[in-house]
Amino acid sequence: MPFDSLRPKVSTILANENESVDQRLTEICELLQASIGYYDWVGFYFANEETRTLHLRAFAGEPTEHTVIPFGKGICGQVAESNENFVVADVKAQNNYIACNMYVKAEIVIPLFKDGKNIGQIDIDSHMADPFSSEDERFLEWVNQEVADIL
Ligand code: SME
Repeated sequence: MPFDSLRPKVSTILANENESVDQRLTEICELLQASIGYYDWVGFYFANEETRTLHLRAFAGEPTEHTVIPFGKGICGQVAESNENFVVADVKAQNNYIACNMYVKAEIVIPLFKDGKNIGQIDIDSHMADPFSSEDERFLEWVNQEVADIL
């Protein structure tokens, strides 16, 4: 896994204050999607606490119609409430799942904490079955911490 070689690239993108936060988030999505073969769609959702909805702010991969997701709905909405990583080896085995396209076999959602509060998440879809390991979790937790630092 090229996670160690990706870390400095992630840091460089996030440190570029000439770009907006949204541009930098999009570049992170593009970097991860292009660099890791089984990351087919990468996006960041952020929470609106008043409306209890998640909003897609940056992504790489096919456009999705699921740009707003209520808390509790789908894998993403469940993570908004649980504050815990959710690794789905087989999306077909999930009842509470929002399908983005027919090719997706697995998904990982890692909450993003700012000052201890769950404010959003990184969401990754894979066309490969059961591709995610604890290494993905540790790497994506690190990415989210770095992102939290620029918010
Ligand atoms: N599958 C997600 C919805 C978002 S798409 O993957 C982009 C879910 O069940 O929450």
